[in-house]
Amino acid sequence: MIAIRNRIEVMHGVNLDQLGRRDPAQYGTLTLDELEVQISSAAGELGLDARFFRSNHEGEFVERLHHLEGLADGLVLNPGAWTHYSYAIRDALELAGLPAVEVHLSDVDSREPWRRKSVIRELCIARVAGKGPAGYRDALERLRGELAG
Ligand code: DQA
Repeated sequence: MIAIRNRIEVMHGVNLDQLGRRDPAQYGTLTLDELEVQISSAAGELGLDARFFRSNHEGEFVERLHHLEGLADGLVLNPGAWTHYSYAIRDALELAGLPAVEVHLSDVDSREPWRRKSVIRELCIARVAGKGPAGYRDALERLRGELAG
């Protein structure tokens, strides 16, 4: 029997719960709830099952990564500013051992220099930045290809 691998954990980190109040020029106008609805429907269209996690607490984010074994087949991660410096999240992502795609709503490479660094990049199969909410669909497509392959 072939196991279906379609469970995607979509994880949002620090300050992403404030979408809708943050600079619309960088992040658009959707709230995180609205963004998750869009991601969920894109996932459904692609035959994927998206589950969501959000936290402003680094330790909670790390512990979620610890407990994903058997619960998820792939990850979409937007850790917010943690992307740029959290080696704790980097280590937990390595432990999770799942195919992951890094997503940023804004074009981090064309903003402040400190946003160009990602401590999780080398652990991810792909990175999508600067495409707004549509970037999550790209990430899901990439994961679908990876999980099917
Ligand atoms: C972000 C980019 C980060 O640099 C920033 O700290 C965020 C959001 C993005 O989605 O564009 O909080 O990850």
